[in-house]
Amino acid sequence: MSEDWQQIARDVSSLLREGRRQVIAKMAAPMTVSEKTSRKDLVTNIDKSNEQFLIAGIRQLDPNAKVLGEEGFGDQLTNLDGRVWIVDPIDGTMNFVKQHDNFAMMIGIYQDGKGQLGFIYDVMNDVLYAGGPAVGGVWANDQPVSAPANLALSEGLIGASAPLVVHDVAHMQQIVHDSAGMRIYGSAGIEMVNILLGKTLGYISYLKPWDIAAGQVLLNFLGVRVSTIDGQPLNMLSSNLVLVATEKAQRDILQIEEDDVSL
Ligand code: IPD
Ligand code: CA
Ligand code: CA
Ligand code: CA
Repeated sequence: MSEDWQQIARDVSSLLREGRRQVIAKMAAPMTVSEKTSRKDLVTNIDKSNEQFLIAGIRQLDPNAKVLGEEGFGDQLTNLDGRVWIVDPIDGTMNFVKQHDNFAMMIGIYQDGKGQLGFIYDVMNDVLYAGGPAVGGVWANDQPVSAPANLALSEGLIGASAPLVVHDVAHMQQIVHDSAGMRIYGSAGIEMVNILLGKTLGYISYLKPWDIAAGQVLLNFLGVRVSTIDGQPLNMLSSNLVLVATEKAQRDILQIEEDDVSL
């Protein structure tokens, strides 16, 4: 495959738009829903068929690609050498099943471990967020997206998953206390979009590589920090407790972790 990243970005955008069309069409019929690890961890026939569709398209575009897909239709990866495509066919499956809204399709493209292109498709609003260093920008459909304001923790809202706060993992209660408030959207992809648009200043959650691959590329390009909760780079082959935040809010949160402060 050539290194014409602009062309790759256009091809992936077309693939995702066709994937979205098929997902929307299939949503008209009853879904087959099954549990993976628990009643809160669902997968549908559409998660699976969309991953198969996207991976088939990726293999046509890039026959040598290594693909990591949530539902297991990709490859078993042991390293990030070469070009690696990371696919989440439906992010926010619980929302997809319960709300038919607030879910995303995501693809991240990494070259030798470095994020090059990210795609987050807000399916029901029909907005595709795409870009990264390989194409020198981030766009929402055809509108350029500029970097969100570099807010301190006290100046904005933070996204997080509820169990982290309930169990006070990694000083979550202090972090929420110091912020302007907490929001929970139920899709890592939609959380990333909110940060990208400056609606929230960060997000903290246990995430798998496919939950964060696309968002990491888009947000890093816009100056937003993506790290583990203690400020280290993510391991893109395993789960991480991920901290996504503006530069100032990341500094505030890392200080809380270091000081071990109480409310
Ligand atoms: C999940 C969603 C959810 C987050 C979970 C993810 P999925 O992705 O992004 O908001 O809290 O950690 O696994 O399973 O719906 O693709
Ligand atoms: Ca899932
Ligand atoms: Ca996901
Ligand atoms: Ca998923």
